[in-house]
Amino acid sequence: MGQLYTFSSLVKTVSTRTCPASFVVEKITSWGVIKRRVPRCHLSSTARMFATTVAVITAKSANREVSLAGKQALVIGGTQGIGASIALRLSSLGAAVTIAGRNEKLAESVISKAENKMEFEKVDLSLISGIYKFAAEMKKKFGPTGLHYMFNSAGSPPGGSITLTCEGFAQDFTIQCMGRLLVTYKLLPVLKDGTSVWVAAPASKGGKVDLEDPDLSKTLKNYWVKFLAQALRDSAFLDSMAMELAERNPNLRVLHLFPGIVGTNVLSNNGFNWIFGFASRLLTRAGIAQKPDDYAEVAVYLAIKDHSTGVHFYGPNLKSLTPGEWVMNDGNRKKLWDWAIKTGERIGTK
Ligand SMILES: NC(=O)c1ccc[n+]([C@@H]2O[C@H](COP(=O)([O-])OP(=O)(O)OC[C@H]3O[C@@H](n4cnc5c(N)ncnc54)[C@H](OP(=O)(O)O)[C@@H]3O)[C@@H](O)[C@H]2O)c1
Repeated sequence: MGQLYTFSSLVKTVSTRTCPASFVVEKITSWGVIKRRVPRCHLSSTARMFATTVAVITAKSANREVSLAGKQALVIGGTQGIGASIALRLSSLGAAVTIAGRNEKLAESVISKAENKMEFEKVDLSLISGIYKFAAEMKKKFGPTGLHYMFNSAGSPPGGSITLTCEGFAQDFTIQCMGRLLVTYKLLPVLKDGTSVWVAAPASKGGKVDLEDPDLSKTLKNYWVKFLAQALRDSAFLDSMAMELAERNPNLRVLHLFPGIVGTNVLSNNGFNWIFGFASRLLTRAGIAQKPDDYAEVAVYLAIKDHSTGVHFYGPNLKSLTPGEWVMNDGNRKKLWDWAIKTGERIGTK
């Protein structure tokens, strides 16, 4: 039926007439041929895993040929997890990298592994005023050189609850959604021909933003599956705003990337039970979750592989994604853009 080469083995799927709901998978390894019957649904997740492996191999071999000497990169959320791996990969390719986050100790540890000049800037993105202050500082910093690549992987998946900040907005929404939009928006003067990459969760079908309650602080209590409502909102917000940014700034390149499952401390960092952290390490060992360094190859590859401007959405296997129906509606996007930029300017410049 099909076969896929990886570095260590050849995997061959053989359809069987006896049971249409399952396949026989032959895995040729250095120890010999292993045969296993797997249900059709398992096969598609196996295929996805292999597609992700192929993406990493493709990205690694292309990145090896690249030099980013003379380029400036800012990685927000670069103190740990996916962002730290992206920062280190950019540095090893020759870029001058600035990492941003809250934790100085973690930042020092990342900087100690960097192969080129790397600096740390402290920022807390949970307040819009903090986002604006940080953006103003970065505008000054990158004024003389320009900023070529900005990655933002700060934040976490939704947790199903709302904590209001002193500015009256949900904290998760400020970090994950407003942070990505407003930093890019405020840095446009230095990022004018550059690339802004958002690592989060593009193209969730069914996602939308309630313009009466974008941060879900009024309506979240009515949802049964609360974290799902936040996830769909994050996806729709970021997809729409990435499209608007690209449309309004023709020289800009905006990428919204879904990393798949990556083995970081993101869940334990955000108050989820320690079991999630343990499960994440287990999934990484089993090869189900990707290593952050592997996903960083893919994110860096997508950012530098070509210079086509506009907006792009990708999954972890380099597959291009299409946003949902709400996002594709021009009117929805324009209204949300007006609300988000006005809110940013109103609160951020107070
Ligand atoms: N890991 C996955 O499987 C996965 C899957 C899908 C989507 N994602 C998304 O990918 C992104 C990165 O995930 P990750 O696994 O790399 O997470 P992580 O390991 O927890 O790293 C998150 C980064 O965000 C920074 N950050 C968090 N809150 C911040 C704040 N208030 N102000 C400034 N910086 C803040 C952290 O820095 P400090 O601690 O120094 O502040 C850290 O550098 C997240 O948005 C997540 O939702 C991850």
